Amino acid sequence: MKNIGAPINRTDGWAKVSGSARYSAEHPVAGLAHAFLVTSTVPSGRISRIDAQEAEAVPGVLLVMTHENVLQLPRETKAGKVSPPIGRVLSLLQDADVHYNNQPVAVVVAETFEAAREAASRLRIDYETTAARLDFEVAKQYVHQPEKVLTQKPDTRRGDLQAGLLSGSTSIDITYSTPVEHHNPIEPHATIAAWDGEYLTLYDSTQYMKGVQKTVSGTFGIEEDKVTVLCPYVGGGFGCKGSVWSHVVLCAMAAKMVGRPVKLALDRTQMFGPVGQRPVTDQRMRLAAMSDGRLTASAHDTIAYTSMIEDWIEPSGLMTRMMYASPNQETTHRLARMNLGTPTFMRAPGEASGSFALESSMDELAYELGIDPLELRLRNYTERDPGKDLPFSSKSLRQCYETGAARFGWSRRNPQPRSMAAGDKLVGLGMATATYPTNRSQGKASATIHPDGSAVFRSSTQDLGTGTYTVMTQIAADALGVPVAQVSFELGNSTLPEAPVSGGSTTVASVGPAVLAAGHALRLKLTGIAVANEASPLFGALAEEVDVQNGELFLRADPARRETMAAIVSRHGSGLVEVVASADPGDTSKHYSMHAFGAVFVEVHVDELLGTVRVARVVGVYGVGKLMNAKTGHSQLMGGIVGGLGMALFEETVFDARNGRAVNGNLAEYHIPVNADIGHIEVEVVDEDDPHVNPLGAKGIGEIGITGVAAAVANAVFHATGKRVRDLPITLDKLL
Ligand code: MOS
Repeated sequence: MKNIGAPINRTDGWAKVSGSARYSAEHPVAGLAHAFLVTSTVPSGRISRIDAQEAEAVPGVLLVMTHENVLQLPRETKAGKVSPPIGRVLSLLQDADVHYNNQPVAVVVAETFEAAREAASRLRIDYETTAARLDFEVAKQYVHQPEKVLTQKPDTRRGDLQAGLLSGSTSIDITYSTPVEHHNPIEPHATIAAWDGEYLTLYDSTQYMKGVQKTVSGTFGIEEDKVTVLCPYVGGGFGCKGSVWSHVVLCAMAAKMVGRPVKLALDRTQMFGPVGQRPVTDQRMRLAAMSDGRLTASAHDTIAYTSMIEDWIEPSGLMTRMMYASPNQETTHRLARMNLGTPTFMRAPGEASGSFALESSMDELAYELGIDPLELRLRNYTERDPGKDLPFSSKSLRQCYETGAARFGWSRRNPQPRSMAAGDKLVGLGMATATYPTNRSQGKASATIHPDGSAVFRSSTQDLGTGTYTVMTQIAADALGVPVAQVSFELGNSTLPEAPVSGGSTTVASVGPAVLAAGHALRLKLTGIAVANEASPLFGALAEEVDVQNGELFLRADPARRETMAAIVSRHGSGLVEVVASADPGDTSKHYSMHAFGAVFVEVHVDELLGTVRVARVVGVYGVGKLMNAKTGHSQLMGGIVGGLGMALFEETVFDARNGRAVNGNLAEYHIPVNADIGHIEVEVVDEDDPHVNPLGAKGIGEIGITGVAAAVANAVFHATGKRVRDLPITLDKLL
């Protein structure tokens, strides 16, 4: 295993920087027509009248697709209910109802993008509006309990909360809130749909090609294998591309209606409504502790909004269930309906927002108790998941705390708020705990070797820009026993062996073991071919006596008897040798609670006169099992921290209280961090050997980086200024 873990460069790096990597809207398709999505301008009601005359008169317009002329989808199919279709509840123009502003209500198709957009602007739609629920403060008076929180129960209880709250010497009862945040990948959603008779090819920017295939085929009521989804590159996902949204199906419907391939790309403003967002959360934290800091009780009550058409809950309380040894605990999740688009998974859904509340409240409790915030975490450290009542498969959090504190210089922190300064800036040091669950699904992969010795591994997985191509190549090379340069990895095609969603930080954990298994199986197959062939120097040996190095098989006892894989394949009649392997998670999750952990330390410099916060330094130390690539892995964790700084200081979607439309639905006014906002970030990964999570020992790193960061910043801001900001983002108005 000499390639796994090595800091090799991205195998897709050249394609990316040279511009030859094609994203979904960039594939050349003959006869392509261009679509522009039309979205509602009211938050609630019905379309009462559509006047398409002027739109249809724009030269080059091929179709104005509305609920009045759209093809009717089957209401029920074998694949599942179509209205609502399988997967998410979509807006497919099957009725005139409007449930939120910016909801898809029409699609205009034309010869050019410009003509489609021009015609879209000339489409007149009248609405009968009804009263909309747009105020979260009002909406949250009418909450309901969701059925599930991801795969877990909405509410949990252990011990006796009231008794626990009363038995502590100190308690707090504080509500934190987080705003609506939008994913804003640099590549907006885009789809090209091309029908060939009953067969449909979709180029789609997605985190889950198989999900697109299942949803689209199910919605049209056709066999799954009639739909092929291609997605070689994704320009960022962050969760919004984990679900299939309306525009994907609408694009295929439009292509069917015009009898030509159609491209539908969302513009930036259309990314703020019909493709999900992180919802507002209100999180009430109650903690009680003995004077030595040991928690006697904890409660985490989350209220988030969802749309009028579907339940989706931000799972903010899940981290509280497993993080600290609190004997008495309750967690609840409630939903308030609003006339906004359905929320969805976004950058560590639950742990990102939940860690802001939990880790801020732990900091507040530490001050109440007069105990160092890091020490308070250590006094409540648990080797067992108290929520699931299972041992952790591995947990290096103590080491993360210690390594991080040393590297950051936590000991130089004067615990007194407002006690540290640098020039005319107040300096604050804060910390928080990071965690994200280690999940895994079934994955499949194939491995093929050619007569020239080159090997190709394939799986229908995705690379969101995170390094899937690269780390799968590393795993494949080690599993087969050949140099990295001899292996390539193909993904982005739904006809390849099935892979799960690239969400929940699961791609390496799910697809990696399949690639590993495929490499081993291919090596074994080649060995079998060689030892059975009289022409091979290995003829007559037992397979288990044969070892591999650098693409050569050799007899362990007599290394002079050796042969290259290329020679074995060349002599083999079929021209290539191929295997397919599958890897299953089994029932490990019944026996172990599996999580990655980390500790994040932040130094802020606050200008009290202006209220500005600069994050001068972040140190994040993580226990994530075996890191697959030291370079891409560090980058990914660093990227997560940058996302956390965005959450802490900048990101917030503001909806117009009158009509529910995002007023900052663009990258000029929805602020994400830029280089100038980012100080010095240090990432360290501790050695961690986890034999349980999967055969690679790798825990997902896609999302843990963002967790804890917002709380660490808020805690540092309190330390600097004595002001506690409990609602994100920490903008300057809140500090003046
Ligand atoms: Mo991630 S929010 O599970 O794509």
